[in-house]
Amino acid sequence: MRSHSIAVLPGDGVGPEVTSAALAVLDAAQERHGFTTTRTDVPLGAEHYLATGELLEDEAVEQLRGHDAILFGAIGSPAVAPGILERGIILALRGAMRQAINLRPVRLYPGVPTPISGLTPERCDLVIVRENTEGAYVAQGSTVHRGTPAQVAVQESVNTWYAVERAVDFAFRLASERRGRLTLCHKTNVLVEAGRLWTAVMEEVGSRFPDVETDYVHVDAMCMHLPVSPERFDVVVTDNLFGDIVTDLGAVLQGGLGVAASGNLNLDGAAPSMFEPIHGSAPDIAGRGWANPAGACLSLAMMLGHLGEGEAAAAVESATAAVLGELPALAGAGMGASTQELGDRVAALVREGSAPMVEGSLMSQLARVMAGLRQPS
Ligand code: NAI
Ligand code: MG
Repeated sequence: MRSHSIAVLPGDGVGPEVTSAALAVLDAAQERHGFTTTRTDVPLGAEHYLATGELLEDEAVEQLRGHDAILFGAIGSPAVAPGILERGIILALRGAMRQAINLRPVRLYPGVPTPISGLTPERCDLVIVRENTEGAYVAQGSTVHRGTPAQVAVQESVNTWYAVERAVDFAFRLASERRGRLTLCHKTNVLVEAGRLWTAVMEEVGSRFPDVETDYVHVDAMCMHLPVSPERFDVVVTDNLFGDIVTDLGAVLQGGLGVAASGNLNLDGAAPSMFEPIHGSAPDIAGRGWANPAGACLSLAMMLGHLGEGEAAAAVESATAAVLGELPALAGAGMGASTQELGDRVAALVREGSAPMVEGSLMSQLARVMAGLRQPS
């Protein structure tokens, strides 16, 4: 029987709550779809840091490296200064595991309220592929004459052909599995150096994918197009900073933070990929069962797709969409059920195989893209 080893990092606040709900769904998916998992709990987060002073130690990196995937909840606590855990654990993990891209679907499921008036599910099904290791987010730059009136802050953006090509190649492969349309989102009219490189990579890689139609949109225009005409996009590939910003806007379109999922993907198979809802530890609602587990369940679905369990991935996506579409509210007491109860509801649908399958499941497309990447060229 197929078996996958999963490192589970529940983290802080609502992290453990949504992760526990997602693991109930994983139990059901295994039973129904004929595979097993081994799971190792890794206690990284605020509590562990306050007790030991440890963030991401080399030992933990080695331990995590031995797994097929990492399922992550959320970290962050009012008891720890902002940035310490986020940078010291999440960003450090993305770097240590060489997670080359951050994949963020923006899909509005039927019945889910969106603040964009008139937006329908048919018009909102796109995926943003964000380069995850470079741009303005790698530690380049310095401040000279610090603390004097003459101080100068230099913050450069790094764009290597290698990393951009990997992100763009992945985006083309994904577009080939979907509606065959890839948009580059950048700011080539002002950031001309980086823009030239990204454009050249798009052209070169694009020559290998003649069936994918390409398009270009400036990042500022993207902020206008996304809420007004998301149907214009299928796959969008973009730089680290732009991707960070536009995916928050994307999350809003699909019903908010509790719904949005993400995957930090290692594409060379040398280290595990990491799947996480995009929300944080939500200390304001932690401990009450008020967190929506949908983002965590959809992240689990993405993990299954990445592990090659395409059918289970589509089933978990479909069951989550079905439960989500019937919720009276997307967070808090108004959901009418606790985080765990909702996870159990999704699990029951997966176990019965009774949820209507969503068309064009990104989660199962991912299984095919990953299989293509693993093939020797
Ligand atoms: P947050 O995402 O934790 O919460 C923002 C708002 O969304 C809150 O009102 C919260 O109640 C709500 N919310 C979050 N998740 C929800 C869910 N599943 N269902 C329903 N409502 C949900 O962001 P915030 O408050 O800025 O940060 C809290 C802590 O989390 C901070 O320490 C922050 O640094 C950290 N953080 C960690 C992230 C991660 O682990 N990947 C990502 C973002 C923030
Ligand atoms: Mg962000």
